Amino acid sequence: MSSSNPLRDPADRRLPRIAGPSGLVIFGVTGDLSRKKLMPAVYDLANRGLLPPGFSLVGFARREWANEDFAQEVHDAVKEHARTPFREEVWQQLVQGMRFVQGTFDDDDAFERLRSTIDELDKAQGTGGNFAFYLSVPPSAFPVVIKQLKKHRLAEQSNGSWRRAVIEKPFGHDLKSAEELNSVVHEVFAPDQVFRIDHYLGKETVQNILALRFANQMFEPIWNRSFVDHVQITMAEDIGIGGRAGYYDGIGAARDVIQNHLLQLMALTAMEEPASFDADALAAEKTKVLGAVKLPKDLGRSTVRGQYAEGWQGGEQAVGYLQEDGIDPKSKTDTYAAIKVEVDNRRWAGVPFYLRTGKRLGRRVTEIAVVFQRAPHSPFDHTATEELGQNAIVIRVQPDEGITVRFGSKVPGTSMEIRDVSMDFAYGESFTESSPEAYERLILDVLLGDSNLFPRTEEVELSWKILDPIEEYWDKHGKPAQYPAGTWGPVEADEMLEADGRSWRRP
Ligand SMILES: NC(=O)c1ccc[n+]([C@@H]2O[C@H](COP(=O)([O-])OP(=O)(O)OC[C@H]3O[C@@H](n4cnc5c(N)ncnc54)[C@H](OP(=O)(O)O)[C@@H]3O)[C@@H](O)[C@H]2O)c1
Repeated sequence: MSSSNPLRDPADRRLPRIAGPSGLVIFGVTGDLSRKKLMPAVYDLANRGLLPPGFSLVGFARREWANEDFAQEVHDAVKEHARTPFREEVWQQLVQGMRFVQGTFDDDDAFERLRSTIDELDKAQGTGGNFAFYLSVPPSAFPVVIKQLKKHRLAEQSNGSWRRAVIEKPFGHDLKSAEELNSVVHEVFAPDQVFRIDHYLGKETVQNILALRFANQMFEPIWNRSFVDHVQITMAEDIGIGGRAGYYDGIGAARDVIQNHLLQLMALTAMEEPASFDADALAAEKTKVLGAVKLPKDLGRSTVRGQYAEGWQGGEQAVGYLQEDGIDPKSKTDTYAAIKVEVDNRRWAGVPFYLRTGKRLGRRVTEIAVVFQRAPHSPFDHTATEELGQNAIVIRVQPDEGITVRFGSKVPGTSMEIRDVSMDFAYGESFTESSPEAYERLILDVLLGDSNLFPRTEEVELSWKILDPIEEYWDKHGKPAQYPAGTWGPVEADEMLEADGRSWRRP
């Protein structure tokens, strides 16, 4: 038989995954996220041929727009932010399925108009009743939109059609509010209809953590407490809060980033091999890690929060957080947070995981560094290894996506001196395909009903369980430490690691 067998295995995940007949309703379509990420992602998917021909996009917002005004807004957003080149024929096809529904979230008439718009699209575009509702709205509006979907029977699946809800972050601001939101959501949607966005999980480099660990033989045998000294997970931003004071103040770095992105990265780094690559098996392993997280007793010594003060960033003077427009000058909101946790199981007992995030830090970088213990014995004279650090595997999530392995090597010459060198894998050099945007991947997965890359109820709630005691401790004790903009955070964070005989990486 020829090797080019036309009967290919439908489970072959190398084949393009193309969404079936469907549409997407975006609530909050005039917002920043929709314009910069969601509309461009829809176009990029269409341009790559991954959407069905009759795909429909419905915008819901307060503006007095006609369908044509909405289409023009999408057009402008696509031209400005899409990843792939603009092609008129793709656009002309996409625009056929664009509709706008004007209204506020408490407007019953608007939701009825939304229902008839969906019915009309089913007939005109063949969407088959299959619609995902993307809640790109302020978190305070999640419950009202969900309840309106129920009231107007928009969540009902009939005659084999599907309805799905996509919910942006933050999912609650503590355990109690997350539980309340989960109960509102699950009154209307079954668990397999709910897709909670953590856009980090849509990144290629994050999915590659699983490939690195479980498709290879050389990493997993040393991925444990016998060889690993500690793990550092960093998400550093060089920007301040921009125009998002209203969203950020009172939330802070730990809730905005550690609760979701960093704890998810930690779960993927620490989890056991799943029985399969399906959503249930993955969620089960991540949930075990989050459930095994132990906070140190003394939160004063194992957590640090900071706030950026004025300083210099990229040659420009930056104002401090308290001087930003819209920020209460007495605000105690953290713009930097660092915590130390342990994963209390046989693989990781005693290995600290240090998680840190901050705004206005030295540079924009997200990475996971698995730092190894020193060799138990060295046959070399101590002077030979004085400049040798600890071996490390660094997964560079963004930018400059790739993996670095750091180890010691002999300096050329007649003497014996060993220094750190690194071996690099860079996506850009090894592959010709460019990575899709996280939102492209995630929207496609929603339309396909593939929930692998979406955190589940238990994961969200366990993450808040980890963070709540820290936030409570911070509420009761003092204020955030100040750090000048453009530096790597407060000195207290350096002291936290020094007390353990370690230091932060300076990526
Ligand atoms: N921006 C980002 O980069 C980003 C990143 C991660 C997560 N998120 C999350 O994504 C969601 C959207 O963020 P965003 O930055 O796009 O917010 P945004 O710019 O403030 O947009 C919010 C949207 O909601 C609409 N809206 C608010 N109240 C409404 C009401 N009562 N009735 C009808 N429409 C209403 C706004 O319409 P008007 O134009 O009429 O005000 C606007 O379209 C939030 O949950 C946020 O936490 C955003």
